[in-house]
Amino acid sequence: MPLRLQKILAQAGIASRRASETLIAEGRVSVNGVTIREMGTKADPAADDIRVDGRRVKAERLRYLLLNKPPGYVSTRSDPQRRPTVLDLLRGVREYVYPVGRLDYDTEGLLLLTNDGELAARLTHPRHGIERVYEARVAGMPDDAALERLRRGIPLDGRRTLPADVVLLNRGRPGPAHAGPRGRREREAVLVLTIREGRNRQVRRMCEAVGHPVRALRRVRIGPLQDRRLKTGMWRDLTALEIRALQRAGT
Ligand code: URA
Repeated sequence: MPLRLQKILAQAGIASRRASETLIAEGRVSVNGVTIREMGTKADPAADDIRVDGRRVKAERLRYLLLNKPPGYVSTRSDPQRRPTVLDLLRGVREYVYPVGRLDYDTEGLLLLTNDGELAARLTHPRHGIERVYEARVAGMPDDAALERLRRGIPLDGRRTLPADVVLLNRGRPGPAHAGPRGRREREAVLVLTIREGRNRQVRRMCEAVGHPVRALRRVRIGPLQDRRLKTGMWRDLTALEIRALQRAGT
């Protein structure tokens, strides 16, 4: 299938689409021996001889990985503060995969990584409202009013969060007592929140807003993807069935 050259280069992991355009403008890209400088030129990665600086470009296979991220890792490809990144956990993966959406440094749980830029863009587009399910251990025991506020939506940065599903897991039972930040033992509850958008630190800020700051946060589902058996720090390729389910979720 003919594709725009900059897209082929990006998919092959040569450079981002924008940087690939620069490579083309600089006359460093050739197709079947002819230097291409015109943006938007198409080629067929399966049939054409595409080269950058004379080196043959091979189409990268599409990878879809599910990682169970531990706390203490950033979910970007590189970190200016040089903290460990989720890429450090993907030893042996040669394709240029990147995280679809983010988990905070302290958050653990499921993270999807892929080099399929089209699917990644569709899944993160707010229009599709892909469900993300989080288990949050929070300080204190939220009452019905607090739960109702979380469900209806919380104004963050002047815009209310979309309605969420919120379930209190340990109602009626005393919550586990843990040492709080000041060394005092504090009561805690576990909430399961289903949200349909991915705003910055959304769950933490929602819980904080109703007076129950998050002590630990874990994502347990992304749309159709869940895996209770995937150990923390481990990853696996998605199955063909899961990839199809994701593609359906993003249409
Ligand atoms: N909400 C948060 O507050 N943090 C995350 O990492 C994900 C969702």
